[in-house]
Amino acid sequence: MKQTVVAHDLAFEPFLSPETIDKRVRELGREIEERYRGKNPLFLAVLNGAFIFASDLVRACGIDCEISFIRLASYQGSRSSGEVKKVIGLKEDVRDRPVIIVEDIVDSGRTLTTFLPDLEKMGPASIEIATLLLKPEMIEFPIHVDYVGFEIPPRFVIGYGLDYDGQGRNFPGIYQLSKPEQNQQDEA
Ligand code: IMP
Ligand code: MG
Repeated sequence: MKQTVVAHDLAFEPFLSPETIDKRVRELGREIEERYRGKNPLFLAVLNGAFIFASDLVRACGIDCEISFIRLASYQGSRSSGEVKKVIGLKEDVRDRPVIIVEDIVDSGRTLTTFLPDLEKMGPASIEIATLLLKPEMIEFPIHVDYVGFEIPPRFVIGYGLDYDGQGRNFPGIYQLSKPEQNQQDEA
């Protein structure tokens, strides 16, 4: 893992290695596998951030399942824009199916809080949430998350799908902002 990476104007340092992430994602995959064997769950991965986590998670989960991708962005740059856009891209019929939402990170909880009622109206058999990262100190809209990869401090992170203005998604590990004072997330 590189010691320092730069995305746009900011420097980031190693936080979670690819090996650490891989081990934890496999654990989550096995947990989901146990719970959903024979139930053919539909994973709904939230683009763009969750694309790498989702691809590793479904491969760690060796049961019959399906995966689809939805988009609902609430973030611009390293601060929350405060608005959540509507769901796009959900073509599957979720009625009476167990659904597992796959997120890269739950920060304020705003994104999922807005999306969940929409999904509930579509009548799935059940809804669970899997997130790679959770920032417990940032939660403003409490939601129940069923599978959490790592609880992390409220510092901006990139890599393994997460970006800073489009950059950094391809880093195999997760990096955190070197200078916490550059963290702009506490501005909602
Ligand atoms: P929430 O709606 O505040 O929970 O924010 C969730 C979304 O904000 C995530 O899906 C990410 O796209 C983005 N986000 C939150 N924190 C970070 C971070 O530290 N790095 C990159 N993106 C983040
Ligand atoms: Mg996201």
